[in-house]
Amino acid sequence: MADPSNRAAAHGLSGVPAFAARHPDAVVLSVGIGLDTRADRLAGRTPSTVRWLGVDLPEVVRLRRELLPGGPTRVFAAGITDPGWADGPAAAAQGPCWCWPRAS
Ligand SMILES: C[S@@+](CC[C@H](N)C(=O)[O-])C[C@H]1O[C@@H](n2cnc3c(N)ncnc32)[C@H](O)[C@@H]1O
Repeated sequence: MADPSNRAAAHGLSGVPAFAARHPDAVVLSVGIGLDTRADRLAGRTPSTVRWLGVDLPEVVRLRRELLPGGPTRVFAAGITDPGWADGPAAAAQGPCWCWPRAS
């Protein structure tokens, strides 16, 4: 049986491979990405043209870059209650977007 604590996340990203197959120019945006690596692992199951983006608070992004350098996900430091928080991701990649909000 799957770990119940992962249930929301599994649902949140389980449709991404099918979405990406229909939209190879897709952008997958994880809002409140934290130290999560599910998106990075899914990157191997999707077209290489899919762009992976994440957003989290500056201190969390600093920690993520220290602990998880590299990987396909480009992460932006921003608080989603701040105006313009989506400007960085929007400028970095455009296309059909699968948005995965986990900033609770
Ligand atoms: C419950 S954790 C989820 C982390 C990751 N998505 C996962 O599934 O493991 C919530 C994340 O949202 C981030 N977060 C909380 N408030 C935020 C805000 N105002 N703007 C951006 N990120 C925020 C936290 O720093 C934290 O990394």
